Amino acid sequence: MIYDLECRITENRFVSGKTYILKLKAPEIAKTTKAGQFVMVKPTLEDYYDPLLRRAFAIADVEDDVITLYYDVYGKGTKFLTNRREGEYINVLGPLGNNLFPENYDNYIVVGGGIGFAGVSLFIKEIKKKGKNYTALYGARKKEDLSMIDWINQNSVNVLYYTDDGSFGKKGLITQDLEDIIEKNPDAPLIVCGPKPMMKAVSKIAIEKNRPCYLSLESRMACGIGICVGCVVKDVKNDTYIRVCYEGPVFEAKEIELS
Ligand SMILES: Cc1cc2nc3c(=O)[nH]c(=O)nc-3n(C[C@H](O)[C@H](O)[C@H](O)COP(=O)(O)OP(=O)(O)OC[C@H]3O[C@@H](n4cnc5c(N)ncnc54)[C@H](O)[C@@H]3O)c2cc1C
Ligand code: FES
Repeated sequence: MIYDLECRITENRFVSGKTYILKLKAPEIAKTTKAGQFVMVKPTLEDYYDPLLRRAFAIADVEDDVITLYYDVYGKGTKFLTNRREGEYINVLGPLGNNLFPENYDNYIVVGGGIGFAGVSLFIKEIKKKGKNYTALYGARKKEDLSMIDWINQNSVNVLYYTDDGSFGKKGLITQDLEDIIEKNPDAPLIVCGPKPMMKAVSKIAIEKNRPCYLSLESRMACGIGICVGCVVKDVKNDTYIRVCYEGPVFEAKEIELS
């Protein structure tokens, strides 16, 4: 079920880099969310329509009746969002997304790049709760862009960190140890969310190693519910186009074309 709710903001503050954390009291969404789903949030208050469209954000965490989002500030919508204050109500549509990460493995390799870690964090929390094994990798340009470090520590998640400039964790790209990690975990699929170049690089390695690789895509979205057809991706297996918001957002890397 998809809810269209006015949700009270319980927290909205700067974290680091260009990232903010937004917590929303949304009992109906919190109760029904599955890891990998997202919400569409209207950045402005009621009766303001510029920007008109809601913006998509991964549900990064759920605690009781509160959902947590992490958002990077890019354009008009996310700039408006930074002005929203605790106690205000904003419109939220969700939980959205139908095809999610596979749950039938006992071991996973989870890769999050930049703000993309928010797309896999709830999944890590769930597999950890189920006692499954995982190797989690988190990469970004610099330390400030690893904006979920506090969440990771609070949730006792084991993570291998990578930064392009070496300001935290290992210096260099998140893909540098991936072949080794894949070989050491012969039964584990890859679970990936992040910038397109990173997802392409990870997919290439996974496909070469003949390993299942599930990508959570973050194409630009207007409606988030399958109506506008603005978010499509090429389905190479069936030679057609499919909607990321409705048939996704998770797809197996070998079945789609990341343009
Ligand atoms: C399923 C899904 C989950 C997402 N989860 C998160 C999340 O957890 N945290 C987060 O910070 N962002 C997330 N995003 C991306 C987020 O929706 C956009 O950054 C946001 O809509 C930008 O809005 P804006 O008004 O600030 O920028 P706009 O003014 O709309 O655009 C500013 C710039 O960002 C680019 N841009 C906007 N949206 C995207 C996009 N989806 N992909 C690539 N470039 C884009 C534009 O081309 C433009 O250059 C997600 C997107 C999807 C589809
Ligand atoms: S965003 Fe409208 S169909 Fe996907």
